[in-house]
Amino acid sequence: MTRLIQAVRGMNDILPEQAHHWEFFEQTVREWMAACGYRSIRLPIVEQTDLFVRSIGAVTDIVEKEMYTFLDHLNGDSLTLRPEGTASCVRAALEHNLLYAGPQRLYYSGPMFRHERPQKGRYRQFHQVGVEALGYTGPDIDAEHIVMCAGLWDKLGIADVRLEIGTLGSVESRTLHRARLIHYLQQHLGKLDDDAHRRLHSNPLRILDSKNPGMQQIIDGAPRLLDDLDEDSLKHFEELQRVLRNQGIAFEINPRLVRGLDYYNRTVFEWITDRLGAQGTVCAGGRYDGLVEQIGGKPAPACGFAMGVERLLALMLECGKDIPHAVADVYVVHQGEAATGFAWEAVRHLRAEGLKAILHCGDGSFKAQMKKADASGARFAVIIGDDEAHAAEISIKPLREAAEQVRVGLAEAADLLKQI
Ligand code: HAM
Repeated sequence: MTRLIQAVRGMNDILPEQAHHWEFFEQTVREWMAACGYRSIRLPIVEQTDLFVRSIGAVTDIVEKEMYTFLDHLNGDSLTLRPEGTASCVRAALEHNLLYAGPQRLYYSGPMFRHERPQKGRYRQFHQVGVEALGYTGPDIDAEHIVMCAGLWDKLGIADVRLEIGTLGSVESRTLHRARLIHYLQQHLGKLDDDAHRRLHSNPLRILDSKNPGMQQIIDGAPRLLDDLDEDSLKHFEELQRVLRNQGIAFEINPRLVRGLDYYNRTVFEWITDRLGAQGTVCAGGRYDGLVEQIGGKPAPACGFAMGVERLLALMLECGKDIPHAVADVYVVHQGEAATGFAWEAVRHLRAEGLKAILHCGDGSFKAQMKKADASGARFAVIIGDDEAHAAEISIKPLREAAEQVRVGLAEAADLLKQI
């Protein structure tokens, strides 16, 4: 037998049994974004590799080892499957001069690709909904994003997520902090693991994010960025906290919140749950005031966040949210030449009236067709024999409750079906 070809590791099919959860999620997000005044933007899945190197940072895990980068043999370009959406969103806004019309509130959704080691909640193709506000300076928009998330969790029936916030300050305060951090780490060289040695000068802040238990004592004693913060960044951070308190949003300050992408400054935040095991960060983001300029635009402040759809769906189901399958209203069974012709007309009519109608396809006795009707989950079987066809009528048999079969003219059928 020919060998069955399987999906690529870490890239999942979303089967009909799960697809209705996704559809509920997508619909809820769409309505919520519109309610908050965000417009959707649709971006390509492939970009020039340089876009990600320049924005995410050359010495990040994503760029160093997780990108699906390939040569386009037809023209020699180095292309990359997008590992995230912020860089593309900013690129598109600049390419199409969206900021000339003023600040932009945008969102996008779709698959992202990172070559990570697959495990529960971590995939190589995963999905994000990303939100970006371009051209906004104040902490009010940072707060708005957090409030938007909290509102969405309510709509999705999600509980047990906690909010951690932090600040990375300005480029200047980070430079000062970086120097202090390197000085501190150099005093403990003997206790640093290989990864920390490698990152000591390229990305020392990321050392603080190490999960190595042997490093925790050194990390706990390291200088804190919060103590090196410049005055404006401190004010920004305090104002954010004030708005969050006023809005009744609980948060913890995490002075060690380090994001895996280099473009952040000032506010960073993560929504985390303990109910999903190791991959508990369901949503993350922050401010990136330097990115627009870094990608070649006129300087413009910005902030945003992205949710991990697989993780949020898992949490939503874990929290007991019940999303019923959409079932058909009717399954149309038919036998005989005139009956089949009329069955086509009946489904067209019922669908036009807004009912979900399945037409039986393939042969089969009435009995076999009724079995299929039952298995389909439809509420009613519509039965059409030549007799009904000649009278332009249909018989309606309830499949889910013990009620009488009725026979009505096709013209009245839709109203009747909608009532019962
Ligand atoms: P990120 O923290 O890299 O940020 O990803 C955001 C979220 O995507 C994570 O919190 C997680 O829920 C989900 N995620 C990331 N990697 C995986 C994976 N391998 N499998 C499943 N889910 C995953 C960003 O991507 C930034 N672009 C967010 C942002 C937007 N910042 C400002 N604007």
